[in-house]
Amino acid sequence: MSDARTAEFLEFVQAGGQVETDDWLPDEYRKRLIKFIEMHGNSELMGVLPERDWILRAPTLQRKLALTAKIQDEVGHCQLIYRVVEDLGKPRAQCLDDLISGKSKFHNVFHYPTKSWGDVGVIAWLVDAAAIISQKALLKCSYAPYARVMKKVCWEESFHILHGRDTVLAMVTGTPEQFELVQEAVTRWWEPLMHFHGTPIAAEEDPMVHWRIKSQGNEDARQQFLDGYVPQIRELGLELPDPKLRRNDEGVWEYTEPDWEKLTAVVTGHGPASQERLAFRRLSRAEVDWVSKAMLPEAA
Ligand SMILES: [Fe+2]
Ligand SMILES: [Fe+2]
Repeated sequence: MSDARTAEFLEFVQAGGQVETDDWLPDEYRKRLIKFIEMHGNSELMGVLPERDWILRAPTLQRKLALTAKIQDEVGHCQLIYRVVEDLGKPRAQCLDDLISGKSKFHNVFHYPTKSWGDVGVIAWLVDAAAIISQKALLKCSYAPYARVMKKVCWEESFHILHGRDTVLAMVTGTPEQFELVQEAVTRWWEPLMHFHGTPIAAEEDPMVHWRIKSQGNEDARQQFLDGYVPQIRELGLELPDPKLRRNDEGVWEYTEPDWEKLTAVVTGHGPASQERLAFRRLSRAEVDWVSKAMLPEAA
């Protein structure tokens, strides 16, 4: 009976066991894995678009090289992650089709426009910092192939954070105008950053934690982010746009409750740059269509 098999599977993964591609996987587990990992792959791919806009505008050759290297890493992450989805039964081409048609989602932070070089520093430092917290927790994912890919991803993400921090440091120690560019970017990015780890659903009620796809609840991740980065941001003399933000006597960060309906609207394609980014990705897909037709006999 498959229920007994599922119960046995659950017991195994909840005790810390990891499974491989050719192991028996319950349907629900496979579906949740595909949706979650696909969204991660989509986010790596869509995440390069806001940064790509700044390659030509980077202030020095060194900055241009660092930014280009980061972008190449992110596209590499997407390739690796889509391969994991492919092994679970959903082809890469289908992932791309669902992304550009709006059927699948990508992370909230990549639905926003960039306005200045300050954004490049803030994205690489703080968006990547928020991401690495989730990705480090995925090293313990019950699906071993995904956990293995995360090792390389996390290693590269830590380089991105250093690049972002260095960019921010150069600006906050530069002219008052440069400082202001970072301050303005931090203020603008704070809401998307507070949305990043999702609603504060209790870990015990989170189906992703239940299947041990994730090993950390949303609020735990957000607290870890606040604990690690608010002191660093404030140390640079930067201000955060939330008057309620403080670490209480129990060591828990208190903050103004983010507008969760806004998060839902953003990730369902109603963010300020959602449609523009998807339109660009559609265009790229159409432009390279002839390559897959020429290379893959079955697509011809
Ligand atoms: Fe990445
Ligand atoms: Fe990154």
